[in-house]
Amino acid sequence: MLNIILFGPPGSGKGTQSTMIVEKYNLKHLSTGDILRLEIKNETELGLLAESYISKGKLVPDDVIIDILLQTIDNDSKSYKGIILDGFPRTLVQAEALEEMLKARNEDVSVLIEIQVDEDLLLKRLLARSEVSGRSDDNLVTIHKRFEIYRSQSLPACDYYKKLNKYVAVDGVGTVDEVFNRVSAVIDSHI
Ligand code: AP5
Ligand code: MG
Repeated sequence: MLNIILFGPPGSGKGTQSTMIVEKYNLKHLSTGDILRLEIKNETELGLLAESYISKGKLVPDDVIIDILLQTIDNDSKSYKGIILDGFPRTLVQAEALEEMLKARNEDVSVLIEIQVDEDLLLKRLLARSEVSGRSDDNLVTIHKRFEIYRSQSLPACDYYKKLNKYVAVDGVGTVDEVFNRVSAVIDSHI
């Protein structure tokens, strides 16, 4: 199985690239952000809890997120060639939990791809998206908070995979297709 982590700061293109990757490689797209936003839309208890963190740019607690992953990871995964994790793991605790989850299934992470984009450009992309996204976290104050959390809490998860020699950085600046070609080249080298 191909188990790929698409990593990167807010606005780096994780969602955009995931949509293209799942089609090309027949992978299951697992986006914790999308799962949470669906819960928010459906006004569930989990949605209400998640919104209280998301709107402030903070991470939803690890135990809640790990629980969601456990519930969704086996769901119809068998008909796919693997999974693409978009927005998970984003703490060291989540990375360790993922390792355990996969190990229990005789699986492991193939590669973590970090999409790198500087914050000035990320800010421009996210402010442009805020006009249409309706996301409570797409505003100047919350975007800066998300950047800060990425640096302090999420990059350590990235370091975890560097130590395992499963880390590859990709330049996320360029057209969507240019970035896709770079990401595809990394995936191709892991098939
Ligand atoms: P999440 O939904 O994961 O959001 P994020 O990481 O902040 O990233 P975005 O979805 O904003 O950006 P993206 O990298 O997907 O880029 P996109 O393709 O959209 O998480 C949201 C919140 O949920 C978190 O803050 C947290 O509260 C909670 N959460 C989620 N997962 C969690 C977890 N594991 N643990 C705890 N809490 C969790 O692109 C952005 C924009 O740029 C788009 O408009 C796009 O069209 C444009 N764009 C993309 N690529 C290009 C390009 N190459 N050139 C020009 N424009 C481009
Ligand atoms: Mg996204």
